[in-house]
Amino acid sequence: MESPAPILSLRNLSKDYAPVEGGTALPVLRDINLEVFAGERLSLMGPSGSGKSTLLQIIGTLDRPTSGTLVLNGRDLSRLSADELAAVRQKEIGFVFQSHYLLPQCTVLENVLVPTLANGDGSKDVGARAVALLERVGLSGRLHHHPGQLSGGERQRVAVARALINRPKLLLADEPTGSLDFAAAQSLATLLLELNQEQQVTLIVATHSRDLAAILGNVCLLRDGRLLKGQHA
Ligand SMILES: Nc1ncnc2c1ncn2[C@@H]1O[C@H](COP(=O)(O)OP(=O)(O)OP(=O)(O)O)[C@@H](O)[C@H]1O
Ligand SMILES: [Mg+2]
Repeated sequence: MESPAPILSLRNLSKDYAPVEGGTALPVLRDINLEVFAGERLSLMGPSGSGKSTLLQIIGTLDRPTSGTLVLNGRDLSRLSADELAAVRQKEIGFVFQSHYLLPQCTVLENVLVPTLANGDGSKDVGARAVALLERVGLSGRLHHHPGQLSGGERQRVAVARALINRPKLLLADEPTGSLDFAAAQSLATLLLELNQEQQVTLIVATHSRDLAAILGNVCLLRDGRLLKGQHA
């Protein structure tokens, strides 16, 4: 039997940030090689400034590498135009950040539906899916609350539901528990793990938290611009 192709493949990927205010160029990622298969999960650790967010932004097509290739679902992203990249981002990738970035004037349910607006997906189905997702993340009693009326952990759960509404194959999370207390962080970590297992969504999580990394497993460590696999931070 032919072995399955990775959903995500990075080859010799490097990133230098351009000089800022007469400084020198800043090499952040060096020769990163990584293959991630559908349904896998990975925790990305490393000291502050080691490039975790940079790597997630490149994988999430929010930034481009300086050199090397990034193949998502068999497509070489370096060959795509900005519009094509936006479409990939919209359809195939979900993001959860440290800060939830929910729209304060919209309800929980409306926030989850925001990513579907650009699809022109106004079907009844999508509303039902949003409700089901919110139920899944434990917020069926909060559909009509506004973000300001939620706890921090609840806001992050809304952000997770929003990230999944377009059924992405890849879910990227950058310090998703960074603003939560221990109990809320652990509960969000467990939710991410369960969603990865139930929905086969591939999960990459950057975190400083050993607890979160321990729950998710498969730790990769970024150090001096290089990615070390199977490391314990
Ligand atoms: N847009 C930018 N332009 C120039 N340099 C940048 C830019 N973004 C990040 N950097 C630099 O790149 C390095 C890596 O930053 P990055 O945010 O990826 O680190 P990180 O591992 O996510 O850190 P943290 O754990 O603190 O979130 C840092 O030294 C930072 O100063
Ligand atoms: Mg970061």
